[in-house]
Amino acid sequence: MVQTGLDWNAVLERSGRAPRASAIRDLLSVTERPDVISFAGGLPAPELFPAAGLRAAFDAVLREDAGGALQYGPTPGHRPLRELVAELLGRRGIACDAEDVVVTTGSQQALDLLGRVLAGPGMEVLVESPSYVGALQALSAREVSFVACPGDEHGLRADLLRRSRGTALLYTVPTFQNPSGGTMGLERRRQLLSCTRDLGLPVVEDDPYSELRYEGEPVPPLRGLPGGEDVVYVGTFSKVLSPGIRLGWVVAPRPVATRVVLAKQGADLHTDGLAQRAVVRFCRDNDLDSHVLTLRAAYRERRDAMLAALAELMPAGTAWTRPEGGMFIWVTLPDGFEALSLLAQAIERRVAFVPGTAFHVDGGGTRSLRLNFTNSPPERIREGVARLAAALDRLEPA
Ligand SMILES: Cc1ncc(COP(=O)(O)O)c(C=O)c1O
Repeated sequence: MVQTGLDWNAVLERSGRAPRASAIRDLLSVTERPDVISFAGGLPAPELFPAAGLRAAFDAVLREDAGGALQYGPTPGHRPLRELVAELLGRRGIACDAEDVVVTTGSQQALDLLGRVLAGPGMEVLVESPSYVGALQALSAREVSFVACPGDEHGLRADLLRRSRGTALLYTVPTFQNPSGGTMGLERRRQLLSCTRDLGLPVVEDDPYSELRYEGEPVPPLRGLPGGEDVVYVGTFSKVLSPGIRLGWVVAPRPVATRVVLAKQGADLHTDGLAQRAVVRFCRDNDLDSHVLTLRAAYRERRDAMLAALAELMPAGTAWTRPEGGMFIWVTLPDGFEALSLLAQAIERRVAFVPGTAFHVDGGGTRSLRLNFTNSPPERIREGVARLAAALDRLEPA
């Protein structure tokens, strides 16, 4: 390591923004090792990436439009990609046109930019409990305070939502939520729209997983329902194509979209123009729908393998969700057991997961853990759950 003259830790401290070190992150640093079965990340199956089609698409763009692809581009995004997203959303029941779509560098950037334009220091952000940890991270950079909203098996309890003058927004992942896997029912969605409209509460709907449905009937996004035109909708190509490409988007009412574009100018000028063109080209030369069908079939099998292994191997008193889609199963340990203590044991047995506390803003989730089922084939899933059950078997109740 290079010796430095400045005391950088003191410099960083002065900014008052030093992120807290995380015991969980330290424990999970082993997940890169090949002998560790990791249920920890939110990773797609790498063997299912359409690499050949993407290689051909990148190649064609560089052959036919290198000047455009390698040049600076417009901040709201490459027009044909905005048109493509508008068309994809039309099929999800969201009426919008290319002008309404702002392309972002992954949906994670969309969350960060929305935090910048909608929230400020000391404001409240209402979230589900548990909630997506990346959104908590993006929004906590705005120095907001989080309020966990009560929920039940149908999703957020819309009737219990409260707004004060300092409430910035409600953030929700209504379909195949990360981390719980739960989906808000249609009635609850309607009720949520009516309550938030009455309260004058802006809603950010994050929807990365709705295409990954393995059973049951699709539920329309909030943004697609009557009264949903004020909902700020965030989406991504990460889960249906590739997270490495970093393409997401925001659809928002015009004043919000304009501010998001201004914030994006300050963040990165624009999203990778080569990637934007390659995805348009990929979708022209390939059938994205049939690729999604392939993902659904493989992930359904993996979900079923994990559910079957949990039923067979976990001790009595353990409970888990049965998601109809998405990437995660949420497990609750028997009374008296703590997920963080289990993680230490599990790592010794070379299996990893994320403990539930990471997804809670109120110290909850101590008995819960999130398991990802898309990144391992069925036989490895079974082996991983067996290791987890063995770790739990050894654990003393707190
Ligand atoms: C709910 C949710 N939102 C946003 C993201 C960020 O995705 P990306 O930035 O790759 O589009 C994720 C990734 O796991 C997620 O689960």
